[in-house]
Amino acid sequence: MSLDEPHKKPHERLSRWLAEDMAAVNWTIRARMASEHAPRIPEVTAHLVEAGGKRLRPLLTLAAARLCGYEGTHHIRLAATVEFIHTATLLHDDVVDESAQRRGRPTANLLWDNKSSVLVGDYLFARAFQLMVETESLRVLDILADASATIAEGEVLQLTAAQDLATTEETYLKVVRGKTAALFAAATEVGGVIAGAPDAQVKALRRYGDALGIAFQMVDDYLDYGGAGDGIGKNIGDDFREGKLTLPVIRAIAAADADERAFWQRTIAEGRRDAEDLGRARAILARHDALSQTRGAALEWAGQARAALCVLPEHPLRRMLDDLAEYVVARVV
Ligand code: IPE
Ligand code: IPE
Ligand code: MG
Ligand code: MG
Repeated sequence: MSLDEPHKKPHERLSRWLAEDMAAVNWTIRARMASEHAPRIPEVTAHLVEAGGKRLRPLLTLAAARLCGYEGTHHIRLAATVEFIHTATLLHDDVVDESAQRRGRPTANLLWDNKSSVLVGDYLFARAFQLMVETESLRVLDILADASATIAEGEVLQLTAAQDLATTEETYLKVVRGKTAALFAAATEVGGVIAGAPDAQVKALRRYGDALGIAFQMVDDYLDYGGAGDGIGKNIGDDFREGKLTLPVIRAIAAADADERAFWQRTIAEGRRDAEDLGRARAILARHDALSQTRGAALEWAGQARAALCVLPEHPLRRMLDDLAEYVVARVV
């Protein structure tokens, strides 16, 4: 496969390079997301899975395993496992965030109801654990069980920090590391572990996934204020409406004058908003450069991700992972 496809995004190049593995992952996802006993399950899972998604996390697992010379088949199960955990968290997250759009489609909670989203999310979590047990690796189980607990902690911490204008960047980082980076880090780490890679390489893969996940979520938080316009497949303004203290807002609050502080107090702390407030919030963020500061912070984490790759073997996949770190910051969708 040629590496010279500069028009392709790094995750699309990874997808091409790992096409055979990815086809097996998609086959596994389809086979395992079904249920003969409750027709609502395949309805909901097909709705989400057919909408696509970038498949970043399974690509990370496959790439890490192959980069470390893995020749077996367990990486397929692990890649499907991480995508199932991801999909389960999306179903739950859209209920919690009362979101209406996901992957360019109406959310499952909107099309069906919250009950279906929560229960089908639970089903996918359980299916994920069945898949990882099949690898017969306790170490892998340990990593993915830890990640699942950490994701839930991140989401709950975010819930309790919502509407609190005193939320610090430290708390924000904890939330982001938990709800997003934990799965990225586990996805890359288990790829190295299943390949039997040396400890230093497994640690580097984990560091890469963690830093990449943080950068990725920071950009997601940037995009939620419509930094790049439409077309992200999700509604913009969800974070504002939910009173989430994301990095752009934390930075803008730190620089706020009295009027702006009153604005954040009313819209975020007290949850009293009108139709023009998202536009006003964006204008305040722009005034304090808070969106570009957020991209700047993401860029620093992406730099850490790239730096972690240096102990890994020279390989075309390593270059693609390096490009991916650059891309997650530059992305507009
Ligand atoms: C969405 O992740 C959840 C976040 C961590 C922001 P992705 O943007 O990777 O979602 P899909 O799978 O491509 O839809
Ligand atoms: C993403 O949080 C993390 C999880 C889904 C666990 P967000 O709430 O920011 O994700 P989006 O923006 O809804 O995709
Ligand atoms: Mg959400
Ligand atoms: Mg978001």
